[in-house]
Amino acid sequence: MARFYRLAAYIIGMVLFISAVLVSGVRAQQGSDSPLVKQGAELFAQNCAVCHGSQGQGRIGATLAKNWPSIRPDLEIKATISNGVSGSPMPAWSQANGGPLSDSEIEAIVAYILTWESGQPYVYVPEVTATFRPPISPVPDVQGDPNKGASLFDQNCVVCHGPNGQGRIGARLSKNWSAIRPDLEVKSTISNGVTGSVMPAWSQAKGGPLSDNEINDLTAFILSLPNTASTEPAPTSSAASQPVSDIGSLGGILLTIVIFGLIVGVILLVQRPSEK
Ligand code: HEC
Ligand code: HEC
Repeated sequence: MARFYRLAAYIIGMVLFISAVLVSGVRAQQGSDSPLVKQGAELFAQNCAVCHGSQGQGRIGATLAKNWPSIRPDLEIKATISNGVSGSPMPAWSQANGGPLSDSEIEAIVAYILTWESGQPYVYVPEVTATFRPPISPVPDVQGDPNKGASLFDQNCVVCHGPNGQGRIGARLSKNWSAIRPDLEVKSTISNGVTGSVMPAWSQAKGGPLSDNEINDLTAFILSLPNTASTEPAPTSSAASQPVSDIGSLGGILLTIVIFGLIVGVILLVQRPSEK
């Protein structure tokens, strides 16, 4: 009889333990650090932060770190991202509407946006992966260092103008500048922005983040871009090709199997003396 109770206690313990492992695995899938949310954070940083702020606090775009009154905020947000907001700078992002994002990428972004509502936002730390650029020689008659300008461009402008200035949401910059002093024209556009468009003003005088020297560097970089319209296709987002890894749940299952084996082993060991 004692043996029966001991065995029962082991089995109950085992069942409790395995459920705990499984539940924690499921939590990890849905929690703020799940692979889905990480993917969403990355996509958000690449595509949305420029208008909505890195923490969804709002800039040119609306504040997204807020409580969503809808009953199914996930569906509402997904629809807005997919279709855009007509009459505003908010573009449509779904491939069905000519945008760059797949359905599952939009769902990942929605999962990330909703972590702000729960008050447990996933903190995205961008890897510093500067676009590789060969050294650029100084542009004649243009102030500023095009190499410094290149890294400023990677940080601030690529999201709208594309890594080679080929244009995306923003205008093509690898082109023939018809002005007599293209340097002055480009510099003034960067400093002041373009009213009535999403191109913000970048100079500190206009409330932007960049110093006069930095704007000179950017101008030099832009004027170093080839002025023939290049035919290369716009690069697809790198995150798009990354498979969502499921290592979290795989680890949970492996752990469960190992622990199951250990428990069975212990039961067999404990059983053996009484068998004699
Ligand atoms: C070029 C700037 C711009 C970019 C880039 C942009 N948005 Fe927006 N977004 C806006 C503006 C402006 C609005 C407000 C539109 C309105 O209601 O007038 C908006 C509105 C929204 C809303 C609705 C907010 C609400 O309160 O209903 C969501 C959700 C949203 N954006 C998500 C995104 C996501 C996700 C991305 C990236 C995939 C993105 N946006 C990229 C400018 C932008
Ligand atoms: C939120 C998207 C966005 C960002 C970020 C952005 N731009 Fe723009 N930019 C635009 C748009 C849109 C236009 C076209 C405006 C128009 O003429 O309607 C534009 C126009 C320009 C032009 C004028 C092009 C021409 O043909 O006259 C220059 C130069 C320029 N941007 C430089 C920059 C630089 C440099 C940065 C980074 C410091 C930057 N932009 C960041 C959206 C953006």
